[in-house]
Amino acid sequence: MPTNPTIGVFDSGFGGLTVLRALLPRIPGAHYIYLGDTARLPYGAKSQTTIARYAVESARFLEQRGADYLVIACNTATALALPEIRAAVSIPVVGVIEPGAKAAAAALIHKICHPEPSAKDLLSHPGDTTQSVLVLATQATVHSHAYRNACAHLGLHTTEKACPLLVPLVEEGWTDHAVTRDVLRIYLTEALSLSAPQAVLLGCTHYPLIAAEITAMLRTLGSSAEVIDSAEATAAEVARQVDISPLAETAPATFECFATDSVEKFQRLGSHFLGQPIPRVELLDLGG
Ligand code: DGL
Repeated sequence: MPTNPTIGVFDSGFGGLTVLRALLPRIPGAHYIYLGDTARLPYGAKSQTTIARYAVESARFLEQRGADYLVIACNTATALALPEIRAAVSIPVVGVIEPGAKAAAAALIHKICHPEPSAKDLLSHPGDTTQSVLVLATQATVHSHAYRNACAHLGLHTTEKACPLLVPLVEEGWTDHAVTRDVLRIYLTEALSLSAPQAVLLGCTHYPLIAAEITAMLRTLGSSAEVIDSAEATAAEVARQVDISPLAETAPATFECFATDSVEKFQRLGSHFLGQPIPRVELLDLGG
């Protein structure tokens, strides 16, 4: 791979900008091409065949556009189509699930060394000594059990909870909103009735935007579980793999964005996910 590579970042929509946001400071000197398949969002409720077709088309576009390295920022696409994507392109591909699972394992090892279970954790699950992770994700990701399998390889016990209402709430900009807190209360109460996790893995691009609300609701419900952001974990993994010349490390990263639907909406909503303005977005037609 060349030094100072061009890194393609793919997501079903705006959410993967949370991964780009984590990549920009970690790998300066790189050029990023971000593609949000907003016309076909959400992937989270679609079939494996459809998700694989959409993701492969997007991956091929990014490779043709000059990407030397591909980051699948979408949890759903990673969970359901990573082998198909890898087979369709000739550049290295990293998804979000393995880095997320590894980050959860690292957090749990840290917790084993510094255990501080809450009184409620101990009262509600007195015999539960397994180091367990709760994965919050879309319906499709949960049904694939990709996170459960990745965590099992690392010796972790996993409970998975589909949270389908969270993507539209975040897309609506309702990150700090009573309705979102009510929905979180319901999802997390259901999940915590099944296990007492030591870590909660955010297995969807949109959830980092409500990480503070998720943490606050866990505390309200008596859980001391640590919240793990797979966007950060993925950026750290990519930074380990790519080669940046020392000279370029001081140069700011550059990025260009493509969307398959309204560029105006992408700029407006996407800037919240990216944490900075998006000066220009190009409209791309990938077909139906
Ligand atoms: N990007 C998807 C994910 O991370 C969430 C949005 C969607 O369902 O397409 O799973």
